[in-house]
Amino acid sequence: MAKMAASMVEHGEDAFRKLFKFYKRRNPPPDFSDVIDFSKGLWSDKVVSAKLDAAAVSDVEARRVGLRPVRDWKAFGLQGYPGFIFISNPFLLGSQPFWVRQCLKSYPQKPNVCNLDMHMAPADTEDIWGKSADALRLPPSGKREPKTLLERLRWVTLGYHYNWNTKTYSANHYTPFPSELHALSCHIAAVCGFPGFDAEAGILNYYRSDSSLGIHVDESELDHTRPLLSFSFGQSAIFLLGGTQREDPATAMYMHSGDVMVMSGPSRLLYHAVPRIVPAPRENPCRPALETHTQEESALVGPVSEEDRTVCSRYMESSRVNVTIRQVLGPGQSFPETLPPRNWTDASRTEEYHDGSSDGESGGQKRRKT
Ligand code: SIN
Repeated sequence: MAKMAASMVEHGEDAFRKLFKFYKRRNPPPDFSDVIDFSKGLWSDKVVSAKLDAAAVSDVEARRVGLRPVRDWKAFGLQGYPGFIFISNPFLLGSQPFWVRQCLKSYPQKPNVCNLDMHMAPADTEDIWGKSADALRLPPSGKREPKTLLERLRWVTLGYHYNWNTKTYSANHYTPFPSELHALSCHIAAVCGFPGFDAEAGILNYYRSDSSLGIHVDESELDHTRPLLSFSFGQSAIFLLGGTQREDPATAMYMHSGDVMVMSGPSRLLYHAVPRIVPAPRENPCRPALETHTQEESALVGPVSEEDRTVCSRYMESSRVNVTIRQVLGPGQSFPETLPPRNWTDASRTEEYHDGSSDGESGGQKRRKT
């Protein structure tokens, strides 16, 4: 099959799976001409403008978390997907390196949880950044070096830590949610019409150039009236957005560094997947910026040292990091039962999360390979 247009995909049991396989295929490479690119504006007749509540976040509040004034954001919707909002890189020039550094240096730290904890001793996963930075700072030697811990990182969980075995969150496995990421998420949600949003859980996915994420729905949160937010950094991804049924056809779109996606309302529980990572069209976001925003005392986003920037830049040359933020409980809601503390994961189950299969088939649940 030389070309399969996203618009040509018919309904049927295999529609989404076929599209997943099409975009994942290496040889011959797929035709990407039907992939929607929101960075090009109203480029396709499926793309519509989305209305934001610019008054919900002041310019000062936006700047504190590294965002441009809301009136300057470019937000889009997709015909046939009510509640889906795509914000094309609303970050201030020079602020992405801060968020990338948080994802690589700060969020993998304890007490947060990561895939490496599943088969390594706690002392060995305590300082993932420290144990990886020197090797990443060196220029590639040409010969195959063992992978650093950072390069072996596949996921990190924040706040209410997702239990990959039971596919649930619980009251007794919670650690404090990072305050700056909380503020960023609440501002994005407020602008999209969800002023009371509370960022309670986060899942960071670390993709290498050959990674993919299988077809799934994020439905473990107890309150589905709250949106799912997604932030992407580094290399680009082909993102597939399907329907409420697994067999519904999907639409392919690029997610570039800095892009923000909001799945809310009727789009909150749609099937989606990432079949492929593709090179970023733009400059690596961790390279020194020509223009940086002024740092104010109240800023939650701070400068990144040259040393840290080098490590982030080297890592991001071949990687993508995606952060999804969820509100787990609605107002007044609580978990159905408090389970006694337990060994809440087992390695074999969590290693299934990232999709390594050729067809993205995961029965509506996430699968990952480490
Ligand atoms: C993504 O990486 O863009 C999607 C992550 C997810 O669905 O959890």
